[in-house]
Amino acid sequence: MNGMLDTVTSEILEVLPAGVMLADETGAVFYANRAALEYMGIDRDGLKEINVEGMIRQTSGKKDLMFRTRDRERITVRLSKIPLSNGCSAVILTDITEIHRLQQELLKMDKLATVGELTSGIAHEIRNPLAGIKTTAQALKEEMPENDHRAAYVTRIIIETDRLNKLLLSFFDFAKPKDLSIRTCDLKKVIEDAVFMVQDGARQNHVQIMEFYPPGTVRVQADSDMLQQVFMNICINAVQAMQSGGRMEVHLADRGPAVEISVKDTGKGIPENIRSRIFDPFFTTKPKGIGLGLSISYRLIKMHSGSITFVSGPQGTTFVVTLPKEVAI
Ligand SMILES: Nc1ncnc2c1ncn2[C@@H]1O[C@H](COP(=O)(O)OP(=O)(O)OP(=O)(O)O)[C@@H](O)[C@H]1O
Ligand SMILES: [Mg+2]
Repeated sequence: MNGMLDTVTSEILEVLPAGVMLADETGAVFYANRAALEYMGIDRDGLKEINVEGMIRQTSGKKDLMFRTRDRERITVRLSKIPLSNGCSAVILTDITEIHRLQQELLKMDKLATVGELTSGIAHEIRNPLAGIKTTAQALKEEMPENDHRAAYVTRIIIETDRLNKLLLSFFDFAKPKDLSIRTCDLKKVIEDAVFMVQDGARQNHVQIMEFYPPGTVRVQADSDMLQQVFMNICINAVQAMQSGGRMEVHLADRGPAVEISVKDTGKGIPENIRSRIFDPFFTTKPKGIGLGLSISYRLIKMHSGSITFVSGPQGTTFVVTLPKEVAI
């Protein structure tokens, strides 16, 4: 320990829940308390390598850095440099991991809201003329003689307008999510119904489905339609990720005040470079995808105060949804 610090001061510094480092005029660190070492994932020997001038640009005096602690945990730390009267400087390290995470989440919500407003505006403008096209086509078809070969063309127009209309409706859903209609629901049934809806697709892709439920009924306070949509979106993605066969496992676990639902596939996995974007609206890697499945699911789960995460590797992907049994709204 350096002579510049008396025993009491250093004792206090050691138990302080914030990181403190002291550096000389050249930026070389001659002291770091326990929290600082913990944040940076180094021991006292590692201090020799550290120069605060290199870490913090003098102009701003503040910087956020990512560190990996010794437990390999990723944390975000804010460094603030304070010049001291003797030419030395103190650097305060604050763990802002949680703040950083919340900021990212807010940004994501903000982005969703903006896209939502935009799409609902456009969708609305398109729906009216579309309705006009459909009505006109229907009138035309009715006036055609029964054996007119051109009737097939008109039918095509009607089918395509219906398809467009359906697409626009999904945009509306995205832009203005319905209000939550919270009721006590049997989660096992909600999941079973969602899985049932993907059975055809699974059969086509030679995907085997396995469901694991705890004994008894698992009841949650939730909007069952919304939850069913979420699990369907996740299961559809899982099946689509296994074009040449595989296995999808659905697990439901009762965790006391919360429940955990995981959907595991043995598909191609999610490449690392796109992992941060899969919840973004309109992000898709599929030729016929819209890229709304996960962003809608994310929003619906947030409305239930739950969370949705995933892990992915070459063996496949697992999506995990956690929901509180009771929702506070
Ligand atoms: N289980 C999974 N395995 C591999 N990739 C996945 C999986 N789930 C999602 N993805 C990736 O995330 C992207 C976004 O998924 P999302 O459900 O939001 O949109 P989409 O499936 O492409 O289109 P949409 O759901 O609107 O039809 C997908 O295009 C795919 O690249
Ligand atoms: Mg999808």
